[in-house]
Amino acid sequence: MRDLKAELEQRRAKGLYRSRRVLEGRQTPEQVVDGRQVIAFCSNDYLGLASHPKVIAALRKGASEYGAGAGAAHLVNGHTRAHHQLEEELAAFANRERALLFSTGYMANLGVAQALLGRSDYVLEDRLNHASLIDAGLLSGARFQRYRHATAVDLAQRLAGLGQTGERLVLTDGVFSMDGNLAPLPELASICTAHQAWLLVDDAHGLGVLGETGAGSLEHFGLSQQQVPILMGTLGKAFGTAGAFVAGSEALIETLIQSARTYVYTTAMPAAVAEATRAALRIVQTEGKRREKLRALVARFRTGAEQLGLKPLDSQTPIQPLVIGDAVEALRLSERLLEQGLLVPAIRPPTVPEGTARLRVTLSAAHTETQVDRLLEALDRSMRGSEDVGSR
Ligand SMILES: Cc1ncc(COP(=O)(O)O)c(C=O)c1O
Repeated sequence: MRDLKAELEQRRAKGLYRSRRVLEGRQTPEQVVDGRQVIAFCSNDYLGLASHPKVIAALRKGASEYGAGAGAAHLVNGHTRAHHQLEEELAAFANRERALLFSTGYMANLGVAQALLGRSDYVLEDRLNHASLIDAGLLSGARFQRYRHATAVDLAQRLAGLGQTGERLVLTDGVFSMDGNLAPLPELASICTAHQAWLLVDDAHGLGVLGETGAGSLEHFGLSQQQVPILMGTLGKAFGTAGAFVAGSEALIETLIQSARTYVYTTAMPAAVAEATRAALRIVQTEGKRREKLRALVARFRTGAEQLGLKPLDSQTPIQPLVIGDAVEALRLSERLLEQGLLVPAIRPPTVPEGTARLRVTLSAAHTETQVDRLLEALDRSMRGSEDVGSR
């Protein structure tokens, strides 16, 4: 039997131990974690909708109309009018024929890969894809390859080298979750079309944030359903609620309903969450000023960081990582920031490649300029004199 205690101790010694903090109250920038008042720079609530009064009111109203839980899977009798309307609204928002709700983004990714692929097929993934995409590819049982990060030519060469038969599915983050950069989606889309490969874009971090109406990376690049046949979007980030959806052709969605196991064999998300998400979607679409504010805060952070000699990764999105390198050092810096009342997590392997541990700053439209300035001052204080810091 494995000696779990010893393994945990080893993990701790390497600076790789993960522990949870207990949050009191709502997901807002000012919060109390583990009894300490902090300003958090780690939430994915990019537009500040998790605690928006209209979203909370819709959740309450939804619960009083539909009850607390869905009570059954979508294919049994858990699929309410609220779910159905949300799917139609999401399809229109994403400019796709149809959309299908899943209980989480993780399950959506798993479900698509399993429904489309078998052992004689191929799945190709960006090296820095989110874990849920990697797991989706591995668990599908298809032949698995990773291509160089954001490198379309490597993908093209790999596709050209595959056998004549078998489905090909290419999976990529739209905005990379640990780096904040965008995938070269127009190039990936034309390569996939040329090689008759499906392209799935996981836009967990682009939806709500990018594009004129907040429809994400695909709107940002102007990519149609024909160019990107599968969009996966999560609702727990910029939408401030929970769950996910897949959008694409009528035939794709019907195929998922018939055979995506993570869709068929699970209880539907509570209808109240669907109602809250409908309210969030209206705000995403109509309040472009939230995206503008977010963009301004990102610019403020980057200018300030550069003036201090810090070098955040090249990202124009609210994900602004500072690569430190060593996991123990990243953890130490994160703790120093916490002592100053700022919550910025240290992201360590295996979430990021070995030697690239980082402070992952995320910004939200709910932050104030003053809060961003406080973060910059605290980063300056914490990182000054730190010899092991790769970002200086
Ligand atoms: C890129 C990406 N895809 C998928 C997921 C999973 O989504 P969910 O939290 O809804 O399972 C996440 C994070 O949670 C993510 O960052």
